[in-house]
Amino acid sequence: GLEQQLLARWADRTPDDLPDPAQIDPMLAQLRALRDEFTRLQLYYQFGIDEVSTKVNILRQEFESIHDYSPIEHVRTRLKSADSLLAKAVRQGTDLTLPAVRAEIRDIAGIRITCSFVSDVYWIAEMLSAQQDLTVLATKDYIAAPKANGYRSLHLIVEVPVFLSAGVEHIPVELQIRTIAMDFWASTEHKLFYKYRNELPSHLAAEIEDAGRVAAELDERMGRLRDEIRPRDHGVLD
Ligand code: GTP
Ligand code: MG
Repeated sequence: GLEQQLLARWADRTPDDLPDPAQIDPMLAQLRALRDEFTRLQLYYQFGIDEVSTKVNILRQEFESIHDYSPIEHVRTRLKSADSLLAKAVRQGTDLTLPAVRAEIRDIAGIRITCSFVSDVYWIAEMLSAQQDLTVLATKDYIAAPKANGYRSLHLIVEVPVFLSAGVEHIPVELQIRTIAMDFWASTEHKLFYKYRNELPSHLAAEIEDAGRVAAELDERMGRLRDEIRPRDHGVLD
């Protein structure tokens, strides 16, 4: 399990060559202490999600009230559990300390925004990036440059200030902004990936890659329709 894995990494040994039993108890105690620290840390990241979610909801409600239409179709948030956080730190060789984890793992807080059109994806990203209290730390544009498997989405790591009793904490939040077609593709790919434990048979890999092209083409067609309905607008159909 996780604790075995962690212990192995902790001691810089393989699972077959664990430290002697006398050492294990103190290590486990330290590990549990770390897990407790991570659990406390999660609260800050939940606040980060809350702050950015409010921003997204404000945009959405504003659009809905003014235009009877919103470029935002749906919004989902997720907070990495303390166990997933530990597992990721172990997997990527991050030091099992709070500062290292905070510096190196920037998807503890996640928000996924689904839009109707590709132009809306960039538009939402621009509107959020322009907000004074959000700092964009990183951008990955998998729409302009899809992954080899066909994955498309716009990823932003933004940092948001969270004001606590003792002062301000700057919390990174991973934003995944994508169209409904991209989201449909990604959720199916995710299921296949899990079912086949990361080793997709080649005919399925080819199939999912092709489905990605079909999704991209659908986005293009929908975009053209949108442009024909409203050529001048930047996303809004009022
Ligand atoms: P992680 O360590 O997995 O978080 O990835 P990363 O640090 O390399 O960042 P990247 O921006 O490439 O991916 C972040 C997240 O995007 C993932 O955790 C997934 O939620 C999503 N994602 C990235 N690639 C794929 C993919 O090929 N398929 C699916 N379904 N989702 C993906
Ligand atoms: Mg991730």
